[in-house]
This record gives sequence, C-alpha cells and structure tokens, in this order.
Amino acid sequence: MNVQMSDNALEMYSDLQRKAYDERSKSRTDAEFMVAGAGYAAGRVRAGYQAQFVINEALRRRVDITAPVDPQMRILDFGCGVGRVMEAVAELGFENVDGVDISAAMIEHASSSPLLANSRFWVTDGHSAGGAPDGQYDLAYSFICMQHISMRQTRIDIIRSLARALKPGGTLVLELMYYPSILSSQIPLPHVAWTQNRTSTDTNSAADVWVTPDMLGEVADDMRLWFRDVALQEIDMWDNVAGTQSERYPVRQNVLLVSGTVGRVLSDRYMGTEVPYAAGEPITR
Ligand SMILES: C[S@@+](CC[C@H](N)C(=O)[O-])C[C@H]1O[C@@H](n2cnc3c(N)ncnc32)[C@H](O)[C@@H]1O
Repeated sequence: MNVQMSDNALEMYSDLQRKAYDERSKSRTDAEFMVAGAGYAAGRVRAGYQAQFVINEALRRRVDITAPVDPQMRILDFGCGVGRVMEAVAELGFENVDGVDISAAMIEHASSSPLLANSRFWVTDGHSAGGAPDGQYDLAYSFICMQHISMRQTRIDIIRSLARALKPGGTLVLELMYYPSILSSQIPLPHVAWTQNRTSTDTNSAADVWVTPDMLGEVADDMRLWFRDVALQEIDMWDNVAGTQSERYPVRQNVLLVSGTVGRVLSDRYMGTEVPYAAGEPITR
C-alpha cells in the first residue's frame, strides 16, 4: 500500500479547507454555524460530556489509575474551531488546554473566550499540529474535524504530528463517523472511504470520510504507525437498529472514537514491567 502523495496535492487540499472555513467563519454566528449547524447551543452543552469522555480516556490509560488527577495536565484540541470543547475542558478545572486550527478566523473567535485566557493557539498548515510544542501534552483530542478530511495522507500526517506533540504515555482520542450497515463500496459520492486520498471541491460535511466495517482495520493500522493499544469504540447514537435516516445520511450513522497511547503504558499495566516482551526477540514458530 502506498499512501504517499505529492506535497502539492496536500497543500492544494489544505488551501481549499482553509479558504472554506475562513470565508464562512468571519462572524461569530457564521463560525458557530460551521461548527454545529443550527444547533450550537446544544452542541456546547454536549461539549461538557465530550470533554469528560476524553479526559476519562486519558486517565484510565495511566499506568497507575489510582494516582491523583493532575489539574495541570496539558491538553491539545486539534481543529478547535470556536473553542466549544476547550471551554468545557476548562470548566472541568483543566486550564492548560491549547488549540490548533487551520482557520485563523476560527482561532480569532476561540481566543477571545474569557474561559480560555490561559490557552495558547496556533494556526496550522492543515496537515500538522502547527506550532504546538513537541512532547508536552498528556492528552490530544479532536471532535467533528477528522471526519471532514477526505485525504488519507492529510489524516496520517495529522496523526503523526499529534503523536509528536504528546509526552510518552500521552493519549490521543479522535472522533470519526461510523456507518455500520454499509461497506466502503456503498459510500455515496462525494464522501470517501478511509483508504481514499481525495481532494474534494468542498469540506465540512460536503465531502467527508465515512468509516465502514471493512475499513476498521485500516483505521487501526494508521493509528498503530505511532500509537499503541489502539481502541476503536463505537458509540451507538440511536435506540433502534435502523437509526435515523435523512436525505443527507440515508443510512445508520454512529460515532467512532479512536484512542491510542504513546509508549508502553497499557502493556506495563497489564503485564508488569518485568516481563521480557520489550526486547523484541524474534519469534520462532
Ligand atoms: C465542525 S468544526 C468543529 C470545531 C470543534 N472541534 C468542535 O467540535 O466544536 C471543524 C473545525 O476543524 C477545522 N479544520 C478542518 N480541517 C482542518 C485541518 N486539516 N487542520 C486543522 N483544522 C482543521 C476547521 O477550521 C473547523 O474549525
């Protein structure tokens, strides 16, 4: 499998995304619409739960889960938008939350939030964590962002860059959309399967990556390039098997949370540090 693309295609796609978000996020109202359609107020409430979810994921992945929670832990929001989830993280008492985004307009809105007075922000090139420092974060997460990136190579570059920003033992949690009842060959255009590298003509739900059951292994493999103990967690959004269907989403749609850790945290906790699994001796069958 060769997923290398010319830099030009990556840059072209980033330019398209940046332009789309910058142009449609000038006013706060427009920016909120880009983040959550007409439902920003409900989305802001939901952020309280989403913030707890990602922090819990980081906490339960520590070697010693009985250690006190460190309110100084450093957190990075990828594709932070107007700071919807960052504000919720800060409200939980974690004030060291920084944000990166491809759109300067979005960052402008987020950085004016009084709740985020402690936060640092960086505008990115669209396929990295921008100026976020290497090796400093305990947790990085991303909501409603990776699903809008139709280029696999862009997603891979972002995952690598977030691994670099994390400390050893740090946790990444990515939110994606999952379509459990169809295969990748049935994804309606202009949406794409996880393995596709497509520069679209639009973004933000106009051309998304739809994860399907036959692509779960590929999602995990892209994470495993830099993360260990990869977990794919499907969150059932609907109480019946059909889910809800609309013209835009004619099939069942769930959330997929993809988590991973930098370094041997879970294996040390699961097997202890004395076991000889780290040496990398060749396995003979
Ligand atoms: C739908 S909004 C979600 C904002 C925020 N994560 C939230 O959940 O409220 C998507 C955000 O991702 C940003 N974004 C999209 N593609 C990006 C990329 N390639 N690199 C960095 N940010 C990106 C957009 O500028 C926008 O702010």
